[in-house]
Amino acid sequence: VIEVTAASGRYAVHCRWGAIDDLGGLLRDAGLAGSAFVLTSETIAPICGERALASLDAAGFETYLHTIPDGERHKTLDTVRGVYDRLLDCHAERTTTVIGLGGGVVGDLAGFVAATYMRGVPFVQCPTTLLAMVDASIGGKVGVDHARGKNLIGAFYPPRLVVQDTSLLATLPDRPLREGFAEIIKHGLIMEAPMLDALEQHATRLLGRDPAMLTELVARNAALKATVVSEDEREGGRRMILNYGHTIGHAIEAVTGYSSVCHGEAISAGMMAAARIGAAIGVTRAGIIERQQRLFDVYGLPTTLAGIDAGAVLAATAHDKKVSAKRVRWILLEEIARPVIRDDVPDGAVREALAAVLG
Ligand SMILES: NC(=O)c1ccc[n+]([C@@H]2O[C@H](COP(=O)([O-])OP(=O)(O)OC[C@H]3O[C@@H](n4cnc5c(N)ncnc54)[C@H](O)[C@@H]3O)[C@@H](O)[C@H]2O)c1
Ligand SMILES: [Zn+2]
Repeated sequence: VIEVTAASGRYAVHCRWGAIDDLGGLLRDAGLAGSAFVLTSETIAPICGERALASLDAAGFETYLHTIPDGERHKTLDTVRGVYDRLLDCHAERTTTVIGLGGGVVGDLAGFVAATYMRGVPFVQCPTTLLAMVDASIGGKVGVDHARGKNLIGAFYPPRLVVQDTSLLATLPDRPLREGFAEIIKHGLIMEAPMLDALEQHATRLLGRDPAMLTELVARNAALKATVVSEDEREGGRRMILNYGHTIGHAIEAVTGYSSVCHGEAISAGMMAAARIGAAIGVTRAGIIERQQRLFDVYGLPTTLAGIDAGAVLAATAHDKKVSAKRVRWILLEEIARPVIRDDVPDGAVREALAAVLG
């Protein structure tokens, strides 16, 4: 059990193989009662919807299940409107707990609904992807996309509880599994050298979803994310290090229209570019580029991406939402687990790095 102690609230993260069968009991232990509204997607409902409801039912909750269509393109206010309608049809009250059961798309949208329905109802995160377990479900950022950009409409709204059942990763397709590993490798690079050793040593078992090893890794990463957001929930300082590889990663996603390159692939290429930028300006120690390259190779993540316009990517970094006073704040590594924030990176260094990664 991991504790998040953010300014906006404290909550526990339970990470266990099979935790979903204790969902109801965990809610009750967290002081929640009454009715529970499980928000999930068409893909997830048949995988674990019934188990979630059965557990809630056994713990005395009145239960409702609502499914939304699968995919980022449904993370919109239109989908939210449909959920409000259903909540009203169910006579959901201010004590009704909204549970997001799914990947980051479902979790972000469920949190936004919970933050706004009747000015806020209890919210529980029940992530089902590796990325949502180690990243999206912790930290209280909730929201939906706008036609003009991702995650533009949202709030900080911490969950009352996070329940992570690593056994649900058994059905996760390979590509989203590897995306989760991109964020895990990022955590190792910016915060924890021993974890990188473990990732190198046990890659076969981890990619094979070994129950004990994967659960331990997820719990460790959830704890790392919890520590960062407990220190800096609103991303005024420390939390920015989590954007390692993301300035270029987000730009690649934007330039490719959020279709051909997924987030995890964009940020592995982005981390390669960041390492090259750091090396070029004398910040990043020799050997880091090669170490990253080996790790991404092993986990099936790209270190170069062909056919992407480097000039367009450079231009898109200027739109990155972390831009402050027109200067891009680059997260670079001096050394493994020693990130620095630099806003004085010359365009030339970025251009060269992009030429190497996108060439
Ligand atoms: N709030 C935050 O701090 C934060 C952080 C990172 C990402 N995000 C958001 O998270 C979203 C991406 O999340 P994601 O990568 O989980 O994608 P996702 O929610 O789209 O899930 C990926 C795919 O896997 C399927 N899936 C999920 N769990 C499954 C399972 N157990 N078995 C089989 N299939 C399963 C989903 O149906 C979907 O098709 C983005 O919208 C992003 O903005 C939020
Ligand atoms: Zn990310």
